[in-house]
Amino acid sequence: MSSVIAAITATGGYVPDYKLTNQELETMVDTNDEWIRTRTGISERRILKGEGLGSSDMAVPAIQEILRKKNMDASEIDCIICATVTPDMVFPATANIIADKVGAVNAWGFDLQAACSGFLYALTTGAAFIESGRYKKVIVVGAEKMSAIIDYTDRATCIIFGDGAGAVLLEPSNDGLGVLDSILRSDGSGRNYLNMKAGGSLKPATIETVTAKEHFVYQDGQPVFKFAVKGMADVSAELMEKNNLKSEDIAWLVPHQANMRIITATADRMGLSMEKVMVNIQRYGNTTAATIPLCLWEWEKQLNKGDNLVLAAFGGGFTWGATWLKWAYDSKS
Ligand code: UT7
Repeated sequence: MSSVIAAITATGGYVPDYKLTNQELETMVDTNDEWIRTRTGISERRILKGEGLGSSDMAVPAIQEILRKKNMDASEIDCIICATVTPDMVFPATANIIADKVGAVNAWGFDLQAACSGFLYALTTGAAFIESGRYKKVIVVGAEKMSAIIDYTDRATCIIFGDGAGAVLLEPSNDGLGVLDSILRSDGSGRNYLNMKAGGSLKPATIETVTAKEHFVYQDGQPVFKFAVKGMADVSAELMEKNNLKSEDIAWLVPHQANMRIITATADRMGLSMEKVMVNIQRYGNTTAATIPLCLWEWEKQLNKGDNLVLAAFGGGFTWGATWLKWAYDSKS
């Protein structure tokens, strides 16, 4: 392996202003604040309101924040990888649209879809581009307008998901700080438990699919929960063992924010106290591919150069994985 690795050198984030609270959901479906908080840990989630706005409209301000922080021109971006299950359109890729909107005139890019593990898959892919020596500035962004594919009469899903975008810049690093290892997994037999049934080539949109609400997220929560607890904890423990990382070596666990109980089970398995775990599920719910970069964005000022971070996710597919990185900069100001 080459000595060049990929380091995150800046973060950006964006969440819409509108807060959909548990109290408002109580007026929409048969649910209650206590049930939602105890079963999921969520109190509110953000919703992108307004006509003509898609996931790209949240990715753009997240990336613009990075450009401001780095005093960088958009024309310097080599590549944009957008992890999303809510692309602006089926095609062209949202990464293309983002590049146009931010003025990344020299960038190529593509969308990557691995549901809630999308950011980890995209980060690992972007890191490989940097390690190859071919690209110097790669943007990895997770952007989701989950509210576009949620049935707000289905209490099993509408309480969980929210909108938002988080982005990181990857650049080459020669000092050993950056993305060090990833274990990524998938099992397509999980497709029956968490999916959106129609709108793809298997079941194109018809009046019937719309009437049957098959363009919304379907989730059979309990089996997904069981797989998620095991998958996220197992892969995180495996990553630690493979790299001889002890719990005291880890500064932060950055978990996908699907359910507070899945997060605590993963932290327990890794031997980490909750002070070392980034949790913002109470404010944003599950923003699918955006959860992990939104955590990095919010915690950026608390991170120190050299900190060991483990990023872990589980999602539809099934897809899951964990990434070990050493944080590459101090950003206290
Ligand atoms: O991010 C991608 C991966 N996704 C996940 O990791 C999500 C994994 N799954 C979960 O987080 C949980 O399964 C849920 C939060 C979705 C549901 O929690 P649960 O503890 O598994 O609840 P359940 O589906 O077993 O339902 C328990 C009870 C049921 O009532 P009965 O049959 O016991 O009378 C449900 O009908 O709670 C009922 N229920 C609700 N009650 C109030 C289900 N949804 C609601 C609700 N409000 N919103």
